[in-house]
Parts: sequence; C-alpha cells; structure tokens
Amino acid sequence: MSPSSGYEIPIRPRRLRSTKNIRRMARETRLSTDDLIAPLFVMDGENDREEISSMPDTHRHTIDRLVDKAETLHALGLPAVALFPAIPEGLKTPDAAHALEPDHLYPNAVRALKEAVPELMVITDTALDPYNSDGHDGIVRGGTIRNDATIDVMREMAVLHAEAGADIVAPSDMMDGRVGALRNALDAAGHTDVAILSYTAKYSSNYYGPFRDALDSAPEDKADTPNKNIPENKDTYQMDPANGEEAVRELRLDLDEGADLVMVKPALPYLDVIHRVQQHSDVPVAAYNVSGEYAMIKAAAQNGWLDEKACALEALTGIRRAGADVILTYFAEDAAHWLEQ
Ligand code: PBG
Repeated sequence: MSPSSGYEIPIRPRRLRSTKNIRRMARETRLSTDDLIAPLFVMDGENDREEISSMPDTHRHTIDRLVDKAETLHALGLPAVALFPAIPEGLKTPDAAHALEPDHLYPNAVRALKEAVPELMVITDTALDPYNSDGHDGIVRGGTIRNDATIDVMREMAVLHAEAGADIVAPSDMMDGRVGALRNALDAAGHTDVAILSYTAKYSSNYYGPFRDALDSAPEDKADTPNKNIPENKDTYQMDPANGEEAVRELRLDLDEGADLVMVKPALPYLDVIHRVQQHSDVPVAAYNVSGEYAMIKAAAQNGWLDEKACALEALTGIRRAGADVILTYFAEDAAHWLEQ
C-alpha cells in the first residue's frame, strides 16, 4: 500500500506497536519489584505514625509500626528498605553525637527489622543531617563543612549500623573520600560482608524539600542555633545541578574506593547523568526518585490533574530506561501492588 501521493513507506515501526502482546514482546525496559527499594522514616514512640505533610500517604513510623510496614513490603516482594531517622530536636547537637549512641532509635530500629524480617535488606544512612542541629550532612565549624571530621563520625556510624544488622550502609553526605574510609572502618571491625551503596552523584537539589520536612533537617531553618554562621544550603558538598561530566569523576573515585553500588540523586531531572554513570560503571547503578519528585505527582493527582498510577509507573520506567538498575522510591509499595495486577 502506498499513500495517495504514490510514494512507498517500506519501514513501518508501528507494526511493533499494533497489539498489546506485540508491545509486550518488543518492550526494552521492564519494571519489577526486584528493582525497587522503599525509603522508610522511623520516629520515637509506640504504635503511632505521622503523615509527612508534603508527602501524602508517606509516614514516620514508630519502631513497632515500622516492623509491620517492613513485613508488608517483604510480602510484596521488595528486596530492601532504606531507613532514615526522625530525631527529636532536643537531641540534635553541632557534633551529631547522638548518632553514635549504641542503643538509640536508629540502631534499635535496624535490630527490630532484622529480627522480624531477616531476609529484607536494611540500608542505613551514614550522613549526619538527622542528628545535626545545624541541618548539615557534616560537621560545621567556622561556617564551613569539615570533610575529614565528618568522616571520623561516619566511620563510627557505619560500624554501629553494621553491628545492629545493616546489610548495606549508604553514605548520602558527599564528603570526599568517605567510601574508602567506610570500607576501611567496616573491614577493620570485621564487617567485610556489609556492602556500601554510595550516593555517588548527589546534586544540591531543591527537590529534597519534603524529605527535609520529614526530618526537620533544613539548614535554612537552623540559622538561630548556637553554632552561628551556618551555610544556608549544601552547595559546598552536593554537586552543582549544571554538571554532568563531574558525575563520572565522582563515579571513578567511588569505584576505586570500593563502592559496591553507586547512586544518582535525584532521578528525573538527572536522567542523562544516570545514563552516563551507567555507561561507565561496572557495578549496579541506583537512582533516587526523591521526595520532591514524589510530591509533584501526588499533588497533581490530588488536584485531578494527573493519573497517579500511570504517571508514577511511567516515571519509574523512564528511570530504569535511562540506566538505573535499582530505584529508591516512595512509590515502592504502591508500585509493587500495581505490578501485581
Ligand atoms: C541527607 C539526605 C537527603 C535525602 C536523603 N538523604 C536530603 C539532603 O541532602 O538534604 C533526600 C531524599 C529525598 O528527598 O527523598 N543526607
């Protein structure tokens, strides 16, 4: 058949789109519960949960409720959770000392999870921001974020997390040299089997706003703490959103230092970075579909402007297509249900 004007159309890509089954067969990217990791927030208390105002349907859970949630996620087939603690304001200090208390909320939560659902992997976070009264991922002195002093604390955090049962520790801080330092600390303490998921290319992004609400950890809200002269943003350690090539440099360093998995964060505004990192990486690449990316879809869906399920699945598929093997996403539980249907 030729068009009315008479010329031939020999190649017709639409053939591979013509039925549901042929589309299913020709599909290049698959989304599976195998690839999804659920971030979870834990708080003090008993049998309680609080919805995070800027993250509808996402909660901070007390340890007992966190365990229930973990059982649900495990039953749905998700392989891992990434845990973040909401630390009461009164326990935050400029040196983040509470992070190293052997039986505080966070290691207690890890122990409870590993006891109740041992197969579900627990990924712990080794940055200081949940514990730091200055709201930074590192120690602030004289108005600057101190790289090496921060790493000293993180080394102890990583060992504490490993002792509590963490399967993977994830430095989300962007200090230089921390992957090698954590590997060294874990190995020296005998935790050679604990893996490191490095936040390799973590950008100084405005899409973290709802997460900072969840932990009350926004540096711009901390200007009146005793430690004055606090930088209002994380630009001196998190990456400039304008840079792509620099992600490859960070990747090379993390691989040299022994990262087992590498991550790009956020995901949707950085799909090109995910692709670059995937091209250069010989370890699995994760992407973090962050709180603001979640909030955008949620808010639009609540207004009736977008179809939540369709848009979330399209976003997650796009992140996989860009090159992410694994996705941290607040949609993980819903996506596991949707993928079952
Ligand atoms: C901080 C940390 C952040 C997130 C994870 N770990 C925020 C930040 O860097 O300020 C953001 C996650 C999200 O927005 O979903 N170490």
